[in-house]
Amino acid sequence: MHSDTSLTSIVDPVISLVPRAELRDTLRSAFSAEQTAVESIEEFFRMLPSAAWSRDLLCTFAGSWKATHLKMLGIYGLSCRLQRSAGGAEDPDRSNLYLAAARNAATSYEDLGLDFDGATHAELYDDFAEALTGGDLWTLRRFRLPEAHRFSRWCYRNMVVEPIADGLLTNMFSEIYNHGEYSIAQPSADAYFQQHTRLTPQERRKAITYIAAHVEDDTEADHFLVVVEALDRYLAAAKTQFDAERASSVFRTYLGNLAPVMRKLTEMMRTELASGRAKPLAASGVHA
Ligand SMILES: [Fe+2]
Ligand SMILES: [Fe+2]
Repeated sequence: MHSDTSLTSIVDPVISLVPRAELRDTLRSAFSAEQTAVESIEEFFRMLPSAAWSRDLLCTFAGSWKATHLKMLGIYGLSCRLQRSAGGAEDPDRSNLYLAAARNAATSYEDLGLDFDGATHAELYDDFAEALTGGDLWTLRRFRLPEAHRFSRWCYRNMVVEPIADGLLTNMFSEIYNHGEYSIAQPSADAYFQQHTRLTPQERRKAITYIAAHVEDDTEADHFLVVVEALDRYLAAAKTQFDAERASSVFRTYLGNLAPVMRKLTEMMRTELASGRAKPLAASGVHA
């Protein structure tokens, strides 16, 4: 649990495991240059358990937060592109490209439910969102903030349209960022369920499984490290140097595009508090 820990202090020890010093520095500089973005994300999770929010707000959170995660299609697309390049190459580039594709694809094993009896992360997310909002209304498109939709499209395009190195940098950054975000989201969401819903401890455990699954076995931290290897293999095959400027731009844009989603949600919470619609720290349960 990381209830009082900053997102940056959670990602930092994992960044230390990256072999290439230049990549380590670029990752750290991106988090510190986008500190305002990081703080607004932390603020959202700090504020989430402070009141019982309206169903509309909870649906907007569930629909929008989902759009900032669950990028399995992009991961698959990126691995397909690497495999396609491998098909037209000679060894040793060929095996490096196939291995880069394989390592990149390894970031979707848990999402697919491999080793978890086929329980996909999409299903786990549904359980989380349904427990939070009290139904499946949140799946409607109108609950996806335009900022969240834009972020999701930016990630997908980077992985399937832009140069392959940008796709790998996007997937890599997403994994390290998610490691930090899920670590602060877990105590926040758990506190929300405890203080503002009538879920039993067992129901609460089920509701929180989506978030816990990414934190407890260091799932996202491991995913991050396999994409670091995928990038190294890709760069070796493409006979290209690591481009710190390019990487910095992808990492900072990731945070810069994501922060408006969380800021908008925080604004919505503030508006509800000010209007008296939200019930601050009411332990009396179900949402309006
Ligand atoms: Fe996942
Ligand atoms: Fe992941």
